Amino acid sequence: MSQSITRIPALDINFLDPDISLDPYPHYEKIRALGPAVWNPTLDGWMVVNYADIKQIHVDLDNFTSEEGRAPKQQGEVLSTIDGPMHRKIRLVWHSSFMRSTVEKLSGQFDELVDSLIAEPVAEMKQGKQVNVLPAIRRLPSTVIGRMLGVPPRKSEAFIRLGDAISDMVFSGLPDDHPIEIRRMQAFAEFNELMLDEVKDRRRNLGDDLISELLRSQVAEELTDEQIAVHSGFLLFAGNETTARLISSVLRILADRPETLKEVVADRSLVPAAIEETLRFDSVVQVNYRAVKSDAANIGGVHIPRGDEVLTFTAAANRDPARYADPDTFDIHRSTQGHFGFGFGFHSCLGLNLARVESIAFLNRFLDQVPDFEVAGLDQGVPFPIRGYAKLFLKAKGIS
Ligand code: HEM
Repeated sequence: MSQSITRIPALDINFLDPDISLDPYPHYEKIRALGPAVWNPTLDGWMVVNYADIKQIHVDLDNFTSEEGRAPKQQGEVLSTIDGPMHRKIRLVWHSSFMRSTVEKLSGQFDELVDSLIAEPVAEMKQGKQVNVLPAIRRLPSTVIGRMLGVPPRKSEAFIRLGDAISDMVFSGLPDDHPIEIRRMQAFAEFNELMLDEVKDRRRNLGDDLISELLRSQVAEELTDEQIAVHSGFLLFAGNETTARLISSVLRILADRPETLKEVVADRSLVPAAIEETLRFDSVVQVNYRAVKSDAANIGGVHIPRGDEVLTFTAAANRDPARYADPDTFDIHRSTQGHFGFGFGFHSCLGLNLARVESIAFLNRFLDQVPDFEVAGLDQGVPFPIRGYAKLFLKAKGIS
């Protein structure tokens, strides 16, 4: 960024400060009051919180790019860090596998899987114990994506273990020499090898899985095996911690609102609404990153210099009073249409239907077994820029 440009209005908010990250929402309103784009010297980027402005930025590929934005740490190019034809081609290859109708066909499998994952924690809760439900929740997305990638059962333990090691605190922004980052990078190297073996195996034995779909497509001719392994592996990182945290957030929010919990337990058609309203009200992914790639970029009339970074706070847009009435109230009966919980535009979430169907399966099976519960303890882990919980201890109510 060029030093000669004055960046105003400016507001210094350190979202990693625990007092702020615990409840960032009042801080988003301070930004909103200052203007459509507000410079943050600590984050070294422009903060954008208004719904209409974010909507425009996410589709304006002439002026904004995902290629130079600060993405969560990963190795190699992945869908969320490339624009242009390659991005479109790869998305197209996987499009039908992530369509709602396709993933809904898997929901029977998800029910069975959830039953096996929650059997032990639920039995303990029924004995009156306080149980951390996150380990069971986390296994759901990682097992499902492992199956979709065609990872054989004998390798799935390693796949899940390494996936967890990498996805854990992937959004933390820790320096590269921090022990957690060093461990993550080691796990990354091992995981990439595992994925590369899978790609080589699929080259000999094409199957009915996401890696084979990519290999069968024309775009495979433009990609090395290593690149195919990284693109495929990214599906795990993108969907693992995010889905687990979403489910944990819904459970927490319902536990805090006994009347709403009762309503949802009695009428399961409200489960999807509870999930969507959670995505709006307390978005798992709070912010997306873009960079300015032209001299003509403007946000709500504010000129933004080329090379600057733009932080689109989709969680703040989801509480923009110009878009949602009474935005700070959690209400499962409101229309959440158009929320940015899965992003918006060219880079919006490829796995949103999968995340929804998995979350619905988990919540329904859990509520069947434990219809009333309270929060006994929690740990947000890295609370920003990702919400939800790293640990959530629940206690069943009404157990004599
Ligand atoms: C509740 C769970 C999830 C949430 C909240 C979530 C959220 C998001 C968001 C906000 C983005 C957009 C990032 C941006 O614009 O910069 C995104 C992109 C993406 N997500 Fe998800 N995601 C979830 C689950 C999943 C799952 C289960 C998968 C696949 C297995 C997945 C795969 C992807 C991919 C591949 C991208 C990149 C898309 C692109 O750049 O074209 N996500 N996700």
